[in-house]
Amino acid sequence: MTEHIPLVTIDGPSGSGKGTISSILAKQLGCNILDSGALYRILALAAQIHVIPLDNEEALVTLAAHLDVQFISDDRLNTRILLEGDDVSDAIRTEECGNQASVVAALPHVRVALLARQRAFLEPPGLVADGRDMGTVVFPDADIKIFLTASPEERAKRRYKQLIEKGISVNLATLSREIAERDERDASRPVAPLKPAPDAVVLDTTGVTIDQVVNQIISLLNQGKLRAN
Ligand code: DC
Repeated sequence: MTEHIPLVTIDGPSGSGKGTISSILAKQLGCNILDSGALYRILALAAQIHVIPLDNEEALVTLAAHLDVQFISDDRLNTRILLEGDDVSDAIRTEECGNQASVVAALPHVRVALLARQRAFLEPPGLVADGRDMGTVVFPDADIKIFLTASPEERAKRRYKQLIEKGISVNLATLSREIAERDERDASRPVAPLKPAPDAVVLDTTGVTIDQVVNQIISLLNQGKLRAN
């Protein structure tokens, strides 16, 4: 019998708090973390570096299959991301890269090409997987599936604050429009669209602090929703 590895999936649209919450949760549980959005962002950046148009699915699939990427976590689970040996941790976090990631992520064969790479993150002692289709496609047998939402206004404000704190100047109205476009693209694509799995717990984080959401998830885990070994 194969060993059961505890697995929590956290899906939701941009600005729903998934990234921050997944990383706090992984630290608290002492688990590994998969930031699947980073993979799509890295692919978009690699396409730019290798001058591959974002509608050339065949070339993008080849690129995805051979992506030379390393996630290097320190003992505090802070992760640096190397693409072809170069640290791209900050370069992939721009809104431009996020929008391009959403474009490549809509290509069905690109998603298939990244599937095994994502599933390989499921290793002892456990995994918190963050994305759009973690509970629906990549890990349909997860022990507990969370789907985070928040109002579009709050999500745009959170993103605005994050970018300003990083010293990136943005316009709130432009950002809101881009987030709405990205949500629409992610939710309406035919393959692995952004939507809660039928067995996901949907948590609305509008007006709720990060700590409150983390505590809610921990209490779901403690209620025995995480399948025992
Ligand atoms: O979570 P993020 O902003 O880093 O994700 C960037 C884009 O990648 C997102 O707009 C859609 C795509 N994505 C996806 O299609 N599936 C995932 N599991 C994660 C991200």
